Amino acid sequence: MFKDRVAIVTGAASGIGKQTAIEFARQAAQVVVADIDEKSGTGVVDELKTGGHDAIFVKTDLTSEADCENLIATAGDTFGRVDILVNNAGIEISTPLHEMSVHEWDRLLDTNLKSMFLCSKHALRTMIEATSGVIVNVCSVSGLVAWPGIAAYNATKGGVMMLTKSLAVDYAKYNIRANCVCPSIIDTPMTDTSIGHDAAVKEQKAQLNPIGRLGTPEDVANAILFLASDKSSFVTGAALTVDGGYTAI
Ligand code: NAI
Repeated sequence: MFKDRVAIVTGAASGIGKQTAIEFARQAAQVVVADIDEKSGTGVVDELKTGGHDAIFVKTDLTSEADCENLIATAGDTFGRVDILVNNAGIEISTPLHEMSVHEWDRLLDTNLKSMFLCSKHALRTMIEATSGVIVNVCSVSGLVAWPGIAAYNATKGGVMMLTKSLAVDYAKYNIRANCVCPSIIDTPMTDTSIGHDAAVKEQKAQLNPIGRLGTPEDVANAILFLASDKSSFVTGAALTVDGGYTAI
Protein backbone atom coordinates (compact mmCIF):
# COMPACT_ATOMS: atom_id res chain seq x y z
CA MET A 1 0.00 0.00 0.00
CA PHE A 2 2.95 2.36 0.66
CA LYS A 3 5.51 1.20 -1.90
CA ASP A 4 8.01 3.99 -2.69
CA ARG A 5 6.62 6.14 0.13
CA VAL A 6 8.67 7.37 3.04
CA ALA A 7 7.03 7.43 6.47
CA ILE A 8 8.54 9.12 9.52
CA VAL A 9 7.15 7.89 12.85
CA THR A 10 8.11 9.72 16.04
CA GLY A 11 8.24 7.88 19.34
CA ALA A 12 8.63 4.67 17.32
CA ALA A 13 10.84 2.89 19.85
CA SER A 14 7.81 1.79 21.89
CA GLY A 15 4.06 1.21 22.03
CA ILE A 16 1.83 2.74 19.36
CA GLY A 17 4.73 4.26 17.41
CA LYS A 18 6.64 0.99 17.25
CA GLN A 19 3.60 -0.90 15.97
CA THR A 20 2.90 1.85 13.44
CA ALA A 21 6.46 1.59 12.12
CA ILE A 22 6.05 -2.20 11.82
CA GLU A 23 2.72 -1.90 9.96
CA PHE A 24 4.13 0.71 7.54
CA ALA A 25 7.08 -1.58 6.82
CA ARG A 26 4.73 -4.54 6.22
CA GLN A 27 2.94 -2.34 3.67
CA ALA A 28 6.26 -1.68 1.87
CA ALA A 29 6.97 1.86 3.11
CA GLN A 30 10.50 3.05 3.78
CA VAL A 31 10.37 3.82 7.47
CA VAL A 32 12.18 6.40 9.58
CA VAL A 33 12.11 5.50 13.27
CA ALA A 34 12.63 8.62 15.40
CA ASP A 35 13.03 8.46 19.15
CA ILE A 36 15.13 9.72 22.03
CA ASP A 37 15.61 6.11 23.17
CA GLU A 38 18.49 4.97 20.99
CA LYS A 39 18.72 1.39 22.28
CA SER A 40 15.05 0.51 21.72
CA GLY A 41 14.81 2.54 18.50
CA THR A 42 17.82 0.77 17.01
CA GLY A 43 16.24 -2.50 18.13
CA VAL A 44 13.06 -1.72 16.17
CA VAL A 45 15.08 -0.92 13.04
CA ASP A 46 17.14 -4.11 13.41
CA GLU A 47 13.88 -6.08 13.66
CA LEU A 48 12.53 -4.40 10.52
CA LYS A 49 15.74 -4.97 8.57
CA THR A 50 15.83 -8.62 9.61
CA GLY A 51 12.34 -8.88 8.14
CA GLY A 52 13.69 -7.52 4.83
CA HIS A 53 12.30 -4.02 5.25
CA ASP A 54 13.91 -0.66 4.55
CA ALA A 55 14.30 1.43 7.72
CA ILE A 56 16.63 3.82 9.52
CA PHE A 57 16.83 5.08 13.08
CA VAL A 58 17.37 8.79 13.75
CA LYS A 59 18.05 9.66 17.36
CA THR A 60 15.84 12.67 18.02
CA ASP A 61 14.92 14.70 21.06
CA LEU A 62 11.63 16.00 19.72
CA THR A 63 11.69 18.99 22.06
CA SER A 64 14.74 20.32 20.18
CA GLU A 65 14.23 22.21 16.92
CA ALA A 66 17.73 21.30 15.72
CA ASP A 67 16.95 17.60 16.23
CA CYS A 68 13.58 17.83 14.45
CA GLU A 69 15.16 19.68 11.53
CA ASN A 70 17.88 17.02 11.37
CA LEU A 71 15.25 14.26 11.44
CA ILE A 72 13.42 15.59 8.38
CA ALA A 73 16.69 16.36 6.54
CA THR A 74 18.09 12.87 7.25
CA ALA A 75 14.88 11.23 6.00
CA GLY A 76 15.05 13.30 2.81
CA ASP A 77 18.78 12.69 2.28
CA THR A 78 18.43 8.93 2.84
CA PHE A 79 15.27 8.15 0.91
CA GLY A 80 14.90 11.19 -1.36
CA ARG A 81 11.46 12.26 -0.12
CA VAL A 82 9.16 12.65 2.88
CA ASP A 83 5.60 11.53 2.17
CA ILE A 84 4.17 10.81 5.59
CA LEU A 85 4.81 12.26 9.05
CA VAL A 86 3.26 10.55 12.06
CA ASN A 87 3.63 12.79 15.10
CA ASN A 88 3.15 10.14 17.76
CA ALA A 89 5.58 10.65 20.64
CA GLY A 90 4.10 11.81 23.90
CA ILE A 91 4.38 11.49 27.66
CA GLU A 92 1.91 11.55 30.51
CA ILE A 93 2.50 13.36 33.80
CA SER A 94 -0.38 12.95 36.21
CA THR A 95 0.57 15.44 38.92
CA PRO A 96 -2.61 17.29 40.00
CA LEU A 97 -2.65 20.77 38.49
CA HIS A 98 -2.45 22.57 41.85
CA GLU A 99 0.76 20.67 42.67
CA MET A 100 2.32 20.72 39.22
CA SER A 101 5.62 22.54 38.78
CA VAL A 102 6.25 24.83 35.84
CA HIS A 103 9.01 22.43 34.83
CA GLU A 104 6.52 19.53 34.57
CA TRP A 105 4.03 21.69 32.65
CA ASP A 106 6.74 22.80 30.22
CA ARG A 107 8.00 19.23 29.77
CA LEU A 108 4.50 18.03 28.89
CA LEU A 109 3.79 20.88 26.50
CA ASP A 110 7.22 20.58 24.86
CA THR A 111 7.01 16.81 24.38
CA ASN A 112 3.35 16.49 23.41
CA LEU A 113 2.69 19.69 21.45
CA LYS A 114 5.84 21.67 20.59
CA SER A 115 7.34 18.49 19.10
CA MET A 116 4.41 18.25 16.67
CA PHE A 117 4.83 21.90 15.69
CA LEU A 118 8.57 21.44 15.11
CA CYS A 119 8.37 18.24 13.06
CA SER A 120 5.41 19.55 11.07
CA LYS A 121 7.19 22.86 10.41
CA HIS A 122 10.21 21.19 8.84
CA ALA A 123 8.29 18.41 7.07
CA LEU A 124 5.88 20.96 5.58
CA ARG A 125 8.75 22.74 3.82
CA THR A 126 9.59 19.51 1.98
CA MET A 127 5.93 18.62 1.40
CA ILE A 128 5.07 22.08 0.03
CA GLU A 129 7.91 21.73 -2.48
CA ALA A 130 6.54 18.34 -3.51
CA THR A 131 2.89 19.56 -3.40
CA SER A 132 2.09 16.34 -1.61
CA GLY A 133 2.12 15.00 1.91
CA VAL A 134 0.18 13.54 4.81
CA ILE A 135 0.46 14.31 8.52
CA VAL A 136 -1.18 12.11 11.16
CA ASN A 137 -1.05 13.29 14.76
CA VAL A 138 -1.63 11.01 17.71
CA CYS A 139 -4.08 12.90 19.90
CA SER A 140 -6.28 11.18 22.51
CA VAL A 141 -9.87 11.01 23.70
CA SER A 142 -8.55 13.55 26.18
CA GLY A 143 -8.35 16.03 23.30
CA LEU A 144 -12.13 15.69 23.09
CA VAL A 145 -13.26 15.23 26.69
CA ALA A 146 -11.47 15.87 29.99
CA TRP A 147 -9.97 12.65 31.35
CA PRO A 148 -10.07 13.02 35.17
CA GLY A 149 -6.82 13.79 37.00
CA ILE A 150 -4.58 14.69 34.07
CA ALA A 151 -5.49 18.29 33.32
CA ALA A 152 -2.16 19.33 31.81
CA TYR A 153 -2.03 16.24 29.57
CA ASN A 154 -5.60 16.97 28.44
CA ALA A 155 -4.53 20.53 27.62
CA THR A 156 -1.69 19.28 25.41
CA LYS A 157 -4.07 17.01 23.51
CA GLY A 158 -6.58 19.83 23.07
CA GLY A 159 -3.69 21.70 21.45
CA VAL A 160 -2.90 18.73 19.20
CA MET A 161 -6.53 18.66 18.06
CA MET A 162 -6.54 22.32 17.00
CA LEU A 163 -3.06 22.12 15.48
CA THR A 164 -4.33 19.24 13.33
CA LYS A 165 -7.38 21.13 12.11
CA SER A 166 -5.28 24.23 11.40
CA LEU A 167 -2.74 22.22 9.41
CA ALA A 168 -5.60 20.73 7.38
CA VAL A 169 -7.12 24.13 6.62
CA ASP A 170 -3.90 26.01 5.85
CA TYR A 171 -2.09 23.37 3.78
CA ALA A 172 -4.90 21.75 1.76
CA LYS A 173 -3.96 24.07 -1.10
CA TYR A 174 -0.58 22.32 -1.29
CA ASN A 175 -2.24 18.90 -1.47
CA ILE A 176 -1.22 18.18 2.12
CA ARG A 177 -3.69 16.44 4.43
CA ALA A 178 -3.64 16.40 8.24
CA ASN A 179 -5.73 14.26 10.56
CA CYS A 180 -5.48 12.87 14.06
CA VAL A 181 -6.41 9.70 15.91
CA CYS A 182 -7.96 9.81 19.37
CA PRO A 183 -7.35 6.60 21.31
CA SER A 184 -8.76 5.76 24.72
CA ILE A 185 -6.53 3.62 26.96
CA ILE A 186 -4.18 1.49 24.87
CA ASP A 187 -2.15 -1.35 26.36
CA THR A 188 1.38 0.09 25.98
CA PRO A 189 4.38 0.76 28.24
CA MET A 190 2.95 4.27 28.87
CA THR A 191 -0.19 2.69 30.31
CA ASP A 192 1.85 0.27 32.41
CA THR A 193 3.55 3.32 33.91
CA SER A 194 0.34 5.26 34.52
CA ILE A 195 -2.02 2.52 35.76
CA GLY A 196 0.42 -0.28 36.62
CA HIS A 197 0.44 -3.96 35.67
CA ASP A 198 -2.44 -5.05 37.93
CA ALA A 199 -4.83 -7.11 35.77
CA ALA A 200 -7.83 -6.14 37.93
CA VAL A 201 -7.15 -2.42 37.43
CA LYS A 202 -6.70 -2.94 33.69
CA GLU A 203 -10.01 -4.83 33.56
CA GLN A 204 -11.73 -2.00 35.42
CA LYS A 205 -10.34 0.51 32.89
CA ALA A 206 -11.35 -1.78 30.02
CA GLN A 207 -14.95 -1.64 31.21
CA LEU A 208 -14.98 2.14 30.61
CA ASN A 209 -15.10 1.25 26.90
CA PRO A 210 -18.43 -0.16 25.62
CA ILE A 211 -16.41 -2.72 23.63
CA GLY A 212 -15.14 -3.96 27.02
CA ARG A 213 -11.42 -4.23 26.41
CA LEU A 214 -8.39 -1.96 26.27
CA GLY A 215 -7.13 -0.96 22.84
CA THR A 216 -4.02 -2.50 21.34
CA PRO A 217 -1.19 -0.71 19.53
CA GLU A 218 -2.41 -2.53 16.37
CA ASP A 219 -5.85 -0.92 16.73
CA VAL A 220 -4.29 2.54 16.61
CA ALA A 221 -1.67 1.70 13.96
CA ASN A 222 -4.41 0.46 11.61
CA ALA A 223 -6.29 3.76 11.96
CA ILE A 224 -3.07 5.73 11.38
CA LEU A 225 -2.29 3.74 8.22
CA PHE A 226 -5.79 4.40 6.88
CA LEU A 227 -5.38 8.15 7.42
CA ALA A 228 -1.92 8.06 5.81
CA SER A 229 -3.15 6.14 2.77
CA ASP A 230 -4.86 7.20 -0.45
CA LYS A 231 -7.99 5.45 0.82
CA SER A 232 -8.60 8.58 2.93
CA SER A 233 -7.81 11.07 0.15
CA PHE A 234 -10.95 13.19 0.90
CA VAL A 235 -10.40 13.12 4.67
CA THR A 236 -8.62 16.07 6.25
CA GLY A 237 -9.00 17.91 9.54
CA ALA A 238 -10.65 14.83 11.05
CA ALA A 239 -10.32 13.28 14.49
CA LEU A 240 -10.80 9.53 14.27
CA THR A 241 -11.69 8.02 17.64
CA VAL A 242 -10.07 4.63 18.31
CA ASP A 243 -11.67 4.24 21.70
CA GLY A 244 -13.95 1.19 21.85
CA GLY A 245 -16.88 3.60 22.05
CA TYR A 246 -15.59 5.53 25.10
CA THR A 247 -16.63 8.95 23.74
CA ALA A 248 -19.91 7.67 22.27
CA ILE A 249 -21.54 7.49 25.71
P1 NAI B 1 5.09 4.87 24.98
O1 NAI B 1 5.57 5.43 26.26
O2 NAI B 1 4.96 3.39 24.85
O3 NAI B 1 6.01 5.40 23.78
C1 NAI B 1 6.32 6.76 23.64
C2 NAI B 1 7.66 6.90 22.92
O4 NAI B 1 7.93 8.30 22.79
C3 NAI B 1 8.84 6.26 23.67
O5 NAI B 1 9.58 5.43 22.81
C4 NAI B 1 9.66 7.47 24.13
O6 NAI B 1 11.05 7.21 24.19
C5 NAI B 1 9.31 8.49 23.05
N1 NAI B 1 9.58 9.86 23.50
C6 NAI B 1 9.15 10.46 24.63
N2 NAI B 1 9.67 11.71 24.71
C7 NAI B 1 10.44 11.89 23.60
C8 NAI B 1 11.23 12.96 23.11
N3 NAI B 1 11.36 14.12 23.79
N4 NAI B 1 11.88 12.81 21.94
C9 NAI B 1 11.77 11.64 21.25
N5 NAI B 1 11.03 10.60 21.66
C10 NAI B 1 10.38 10.72 22.83
O7 NAI B 1 3.70 5.60 24.70
P2 NAI B 1 2.41 5.17 23.84
O8 NAI B 1 1.38 4.68 24.78
O9 NAI B 1 2.79 4.37 22.68
O10 NAI B 1 1.92 6.62 23.38
C11 NAI B 1 2.14 7.14 22.07
C12 NAI B 1 1.21 8.33 21.86
O11 NAI B 1 -0.14 7.90 22.04
C13 NAI B 1 1.41 9.49 22.82
O12 NAI B 1 1.28 10.72 22.14
C14 NAI B 1 0.26 9.31 23.82
O13 NAI B 1 -0.08 10.53 24.42
C15 NAI B 1 -0.81 8.79 22.89
N6 NAI B 1 -1.89 8.09 23.57
C16 NAI B 1 -1.61 6.98 24.32
C17 NAI B 1 -2.63 6.34 24.96
C18 NAI B 1 -2.39 5.16 25.82
O14 NAI B 1 -3.31 4.75 26.56
N7 NAI B 1 -1.22 4.54 25.82
C19 NAI B 1 -4.04 6.80 24.86
C20 NAI B 1 -4.21 7.96 24.02
C21 NAI B 1 -3.17 8.57 23.41
